[in-house]
Amino acid sequence: MIRIKTNAEVELIRESALLVSRTIAELATLLRPGISTHALDLRAEEFIHDHQAIPSFKNYRGYPYATCISVNDAVVHGFPTRNELREGDLVSIDVGVYKNGFHGDSAYTFGLMPIVQEHQLLMRVTRESLYLGVEKAVAGNRVGDISNAIQEFTERKHPFGVVRELVGHGVGKQLHEDPQIPNYGKKGTGPKLRENMVLAIEPMINVGTKDVIYDADGWTVRTKDGKFSAHYEHNVCVKKGKPDILSNFEPISANESANAHLFSDY
Ligand code: MF3
Ligand code: CO
Repeated sequence: MIRIKTNAEVELIRESALLVSRTIAELATLLRPGISTHALDLRAEEFIHDHQAIPSFKNYRGYPYATCISVNDAVVHGFPTRNELREGDLVSIDVGVYKNGFHGDSAYTFGLMPIVQEHQLLMRVTRESLYLGVEKAVAGNRVGDISNAIQEFTERKHPFGVVRELVGHGVGKQLHEDPQIPNYGKKGTGPKLRENMVLAIEPMINVGTKDVIYDADGWTVRTKDGKFSAHYEHNVCVKKGKPDILSNFEPISANESANAHLFSDY
């Protein structure tokens, strides 16, 4: 069952999604070689609590941390660890918050300078594929139009692998609601999009093979070939003509460009 939100509910999801964006932006100021992803996780949890919210992921189906931080060949659902980050690392930070009865859920991938060109391209293509998918989140389209836009751009124009096992989703009172939003598929297929559906669109793209394996921790998803992966996620409200993006990368990319340790396109 796909829930249609009221305008008031959309505003509450926007508030949660913007808090996620601000949390990731805060972590962008701390990212540098030598910091551990565990330290980033603790700061995120503190920041979320300071803003009268709760981390959505902690205890979700037993997930033990506030954030998922997936480094290099880790695709998603990476456990924060005590290991120190290093130059050349790709760090995907995925955050969810629950506030006023609604979840926000967004992710962004950072590169610790210097970043090799192939990984720069991976970040750019993954982010662009997200926006091409988001553009299709308009009333009257179908879920497959979003999926197809992401896959076509990523697989046809670039030799990158689109992860199949994990998908985007509806978001609202629950972190994961219907519909599922694969990052591959056919135009004109799947559930029809209606005004005020709220979607989490989240391409996970690999430099090499699309195939993934699970870590012994039961959560961390890694590329099968050990090559690097990127992940960006927005929450989007379906509208007539033009989607309304509820999360916001602007505060994140502003702090990214201001941090000399981070690779930035801008
Ligand atoms: N953004 C991810 C998702 O939507 C984060 C979920 S992590 C979990 O699936 F710990 F909550 F499972
Ligand atoms: Co999500």
